[in-house]
Amino acid sequence: MENKTVYLNGQYLPLNEAKISVMDRGFLFGDGIYEVIPAYRGKLFRFQEHMERLENSLNNIRLINPYSREQWLEILTALLSSSGDQYIYLQVTRGVAPKRDHAFPEKTEPTVFAMCSNIVPFEGRDSGVKAMSLDDSRWELCHVKATTLLANILLRQQAVEQGCAEAVLVKEGYVTEGAASNIFAVIDGVLITPPKSSEILPGITRDVILEIAKENHIPYSEEVISLEALKTASEIWLTSSTREIIPVVEFDDQKVSGGKPGPVWQNMNRLFQAYKQSQS
Ligand code: PDD
Repeated sequence: MENKTVYLNGQYLPLNEAKISVMDRGFLFGDGIYEVIPAYRGKLFRFQEHMERLENSLNNIRLINPYSREQWLEILTALLSSSGDQYIYLQVTRGVAPKRDHAFPEKTEPTVFAMCSNIVPFEGRDSGVKAMSLDDSRWELCHVKATTLLANILLRQQAVEQGCAEAVLVKEGYVTEGAASNIFAVIDGVLITPPKSSEILPGITRDVILEIAKENHIPYSEEVISLEALKTASEIWLTSSTREIIPVVEFDDQKVSGGKPGPVWQNMNRLFQAYKQSQS
């Protein structure tokens, strides 16, 4: 394990010296939220948008934001260790409680942890990946970026064991998102992604793609996608901060766009890379 410098509760220290109590509610209950913020050439990407989502997640679990945006920016920027593509993982939990009780403790200091990692280009980013549909077994607060990720983990693992890079989650016949990504489909020439709701995480990458589509007059729409409709899509993509835009070339054992990334993805990926450059 690389012994990099991490941030824990006001201190920068080597990873192997960063310790939390077993009474931390993050450990006992998964009682916390997190963010994943990419950084290109030493600059955090879409920092304000990530902060907005962080504040929303904190509000939803009734935790007070321990820092101002300026403080977060300073704390996180200090962790960036190279000018290559990196990402910050940050986590805020309800902290250490005197006893294990599901209800909130009366008074606790939140635990704040953050670290920086290199973005390793995802295998299949250019050639495409396999994905499969699975029942969305998660809870009703999927818009909260909660550390409680057991359902997502089990779903992703099931997909991986079937040779797939991602599980495409389906609720009552409609596609919600991936286990750790948002979903886009090109159907009849229109780029479609499900609308924001409590059934999906409002992805920052998703927003960037919609903005790029708008600016470049690429026809797009935010609407529900049935599993049936997804199977007729000429292209399917999965998006996230760490994987960017991944083309799906095989879905539920059927080839998508002839088994290779399609032209709409080629164009969007090019525009997305240019946008990244312009922001860093
Ligand atoms: N996950 N939906 C889910 C369930 C996710 O976990 C993620 C990202 C996304 C995409 O959001 P964004 O574009 O803001 O990264 C959508 C991160 C990367 C993770 O859990 O590591």
